[in-house]
Amino acid sequence: MQPLPGFRDFFPSPLPLRDAWSADLRQHIFATWRTTARRYGFREYDGPPLEPIELYTVKSGDEIVQQLFNFVDKGERHVALRPEMTPTVARMVATTERAYKKPIKWFSIPQLFRYEKQQKGRLREHFQLNADIFGESDVAADAEIVALLIDCLRALGLGPEDFVVRLSSRQAWQRFFSSRGGDETQAPAFYQVVDKLERERPEVSAARLQDLGIRLEDVQDFIRASAPEPELQAVLENLSARGLTDFVKIDYGVIRGLAYYTGIVFEAFDRKGEFRAIAGGGRYDQLIKLVSAGKVDLPGLGFGMGDVVLAELLKARDKVPALNAGIDVVVVIEDEALRAPSLQLVQALREAGRGVEYSMTPAKADKQVKRALELGALQTVRIEASPDGTFAVRVRDLATREERVVPLGEVEAAVPRR
Ligand code: HAM
Repeated sequence: MQPLPGFRDFFPSPLPLRDAWSADLRQHIFATWRTTARRYGFREYDGPPLEPIELYTVKSGDEIVQQLFNFVDKGERHVALRPEMTPTVARMVATTERAYKKPIKWFSIPQLFRYEKQQKGRLREHFQLNADIFGESDVAADAEIVALLIDCLRALGLGPEDFVVRLSSRQAWQRFFSSRGGDETQAPAFYQVVDKLERERPEVSAARLQDLGIRLEDVQDFIRASAPEPELQAVLENLSARGLTDFVKIDYGVIRGLAYYTGIVFEAFDRKGEFRAIAGGGRYDQLIKLVSAGKVDLPGLGFGMGDVVLAELLKARDKVPALNAGIDVVVVIEDEALRAPSLQLVQALREAGRGVEYSMTPAKADKQVKRALELGALQTVRIEASPDGTFAVRVRDLATREERVVPLGEVEAAVPRR
């Protein structure tokens, strides 16, 4: 039986099939996201994978609502698997914000579900780093969020030749739309057309724009000029002070599909333009108010970075490090009479924080050493009984093949942590 279309099995290496998804690579991505977010002072949160459907019908906009995995539960509740994390975190912040000093800086790595057409870079489930800031309206927060996005990718080994963050502004687009007589209630429909421009046939976009009273040529000219407005200029200066200018460009071709954005928006893409967006986000200063029915008014902003495109990009750019089982040492049991003290040694080394493997059943010593090499262990150790009844340990470095014998009590020091 296969997983459902668009769902993945994750395997430890060595991968059983060439295009199988790697659990080790996923772990590498998650660990890098976590350490980078923590370095920026973000704290980890989580929420439920199943939510009341209204959380999305009101807040996310039509496109995502069409992609919901939804059903009626046994208590007659209309529910949906979360397609994104932003409405959940907005609710969590809206109900508890008084307990936290501002700005609130939170991150999470949820699995999300969207009933999309399965294609390259788009599946029906994915994991997404979400990093968001609440309670800060200054543009310095926008720069901080973009810097974190950049550093998450840099920490995975990607450089300015590999990716770029395209910065844009919903306000700039809103001014464009209203200055051409656009009806404000139609603004979300207008944003949807701009969002699809790069993926849609020009005649289709032109017709849709015409219905809204806008000319495709005007939209194209506006994108071509991409004249940075003062807010974007301030973000650029902030990023320049950090030495991150090479990773960004102003590009009004980005507008974002989700309904709740109100300010600066951005998307990260690979430089060669081979893949779908790696990440996307922006400012949403009205969402908390909407979620709390007007009770709480806090500005918010953040981004989501998916694991699917990222894993494909890391593979294509050869940035996947050698990922092994994390075993430091293999305890070789050559003489079954020594199994009990060997198990004691296994236990002691594991308690001391080493990754330890051994053969659970009797096996030839050379087979055990072969297994140690396959696991990428640094050393093997084996207990030897001295004639006086005490035990010593033979420690072998698998790279240099050097051996030495140490007293049992000193073995921990002789087995370094990776
Ligand atoms: P989004 O642009 O819908 O934004 O998703 C962010 C990223 O998640 C995308 O750039 C892509 O890498 C990944 N992604 C989205 N859908 C799929 C899919 N079906 N398969 C694989 N990867 C996917 C949001 O979700 C916003 N809530 C992000 C945000 C957080 N904005 C502010 N805070």
